[in-house]
Amino acid sequence: MVTLHDVAKFSGTSVGTVSRVLNGSPHVSEVARLRVLRAIDELNFTPNRAAQSLRTSRTTLAGLIVPDITNSFFGALARALARELWAHDYGLILADTAESLEKQTEALDALGKRGVDGLFLVPTTSTRDIANPLNIPLVTLDRTLADLPGVTSDNRQGTSLAVSYLHGWGHRRIATIVGPTTCSTAAERLEGYATTTRALGIYSRSLIREGPFSYAFGKQAMEELLDEPTRPTAVIASNDSQAIGALHACAGRGLRVPQDISICGFDGSELASHLSPSLTSVKQPISTMATHGARLMLELIETGTAGSGAVLLTDLTIGESCSVPPSH
Ligand code: RIB
Repeated sequence: MVTLHDVAKFSGTSVGTVSRVLNGSPHVSEVARLRVLRAIDELNFTPNRAAQSLRTSRTTLAGLIVPDITNSFFGALARALARELWAHDYGLILADTAESLEKQTEALDALGKRGVDGLFLVPTTSTRDIANPLNIPLVTLDRTLADLPGVTSDNRQGTSLAVSYLHGWGHRRIATIVGPTTCSTAAERLEGYATTTRALGIYSRSLIREGPFSYAFGKQAMEELLDEPTRPTAVIASNDSQAIGALHACAGRGLRVPQDISICGFDGSELASHLSPSLTSVKQPISTMATHGARLMLELIETGTAGSGAVLLTDLTIGESCSVPPSH
């Protein structure tokens, strides 16, 4: 088994320095700290939990692992969580998995070895369960996983809201572009859409397209929907990236939004509000999600037991991208 002495020898430092690095002490030079961290990685050193439990001070660092750092939803979530944790003297280390299960496993391992006190995880769309050998306190945000405490939006309520809003405008052929239903947020958004359209008597399987939470898929799916024998008069995308792709597919066909077709997104991102036309979108309560998540984590760190998670109501940010169906 790799010991503190091995790490000290490999990194050319001392056992005391290695301990200080593991405890997050500020009294370590940056050069020494990096050499110790490299040795920990190279030797695959895993601190003995018993030795760690002797650690008098916590690192007061938490990790946040997100599936797509280029998506403004996760940027806004990271900013809100960092602000919330800083108010409790905790720092935040961010890792991006690019929706890769392998990168997610690496990130969980690397952050755990760096002694974070807790880990927030937005699972990739293909995550089924999580290996947590260091037994680091773990909380999910946005996307949920069975048996883990977490905070998420009420995704079913969100798409139900969007369907009812469009139905109120007079739409009866409402399509949806949905993310990968292997992940909770997409599956729940599709459920909310299906339940509400069925209750209104306007459900049709041909009006559903499933694929990545991406601009490219939103554009592709809208092209397919526009080629349907009977074109939908409104489309609900399951995130704003897909909705922007759908908008551009319409523009490419010379179709005006909302005059010729209405489009609603999901996330309520700031970017969506700056588009022309501005995007109507289901707004996720990101700040509240961060507050609940931070509270859940700090309780888990302090007491070892997790409180109940939270499912947070969404609301609709009204923009200019929805109106009466063209037949009206
Ligand atoms: O935009 C990315 C989507 O994946 C967001 O809607 C968020 O809820 C996540 O699940």
